[in-house]
Amino acid sequence: MTKLFKQLPTHIAIIMDGNGRWATKRGMPRNYGHREGVKAIERTIEACLKYNIKYCTFFAFSTENWKRSKEEIDGIFELLREYISKNDNIFIEKQVKLRHIGEIEPFPDDLKACLVDIEKKTEDFDKLTITFALNYGGRNEIVRAINKLLQNGNKSIDEQVFLSQLDTKGLPEPDFVIRTSGEQRVSNFMLYQMAYSEFYFPKICWPSFNEKHFVKSLREFEKRKRRYGGV
Ligand code: FPP
Repeated sequence: MTKLFKQLPTHIAIIMDGNGRWATKRGMPRNYGHREGVKAIERTIEACLKYNIKYCTFFAFSTENWKRSKEEIDGIFELLREYISKNDNIFIEKQVKLRHIGEIEPFPDDLKACLVDIEKKTEDFDKLTITFALNYGGRNEIVRAINKLLQNGNKSIDEQVFLSQLDTKGLPEPDFVIRTSGEQRVSNFMLYQMAYSEFYFPKICWPSFNEKHFVKSLREFEKRKRRYGGV
């Protein structure tokens, strides 16, 4: 399968946009869009396994998403709970490692416990690493990293030391960022890590994203010439 692509991204980062609009267009509440969005996450993870993508990160809840209604926020938390309990064994069976970036401290205690538990159970797997960005903001992550460095008494640091304080420690930089729904913004996602990422903005909303769109995205990545500032 992999041989069919001239180059594949090692790490895909996805801004799953358009859940609300997708649901509203169908006369349904916004949380219905998020629920269908979880199915798109499941399809994407299957596709990552099939096409041998090693890392995939999903922007599931931003530091700005607290501005949404309590009903919508509680709905997203409930989907996360359901998702983890439903996929617990599947992650183990398929050797998928689950981790998060962002500060989960303000999340409900039971949800934090579920996350810590599944991360512990899957920490040694390396077939595919799935990262959920939860209460995540790139600026917040950078400022937290700086504070940790200051608290450790650092006066001057290099890029490697800085990287070691980011939530993404151990993850390669995302090669490829996909944002659905046609919006073309970064929205405070992995600001430091996206320095050399390739971007792709399919018009469809996230709940519609399927294997066909995934392959189309990989074909788009295949065409990119990456120069990293060289010629
Ligand atoms: C963006 O669409 C989507 C979100 C902010 C939430 C995404 C969350 C999930 C899919 C559920 C999380 C669950 C798991 C298992 C990780 P939007 O609501 O901003 O869409 P809109 O721009 O059309 O309003």
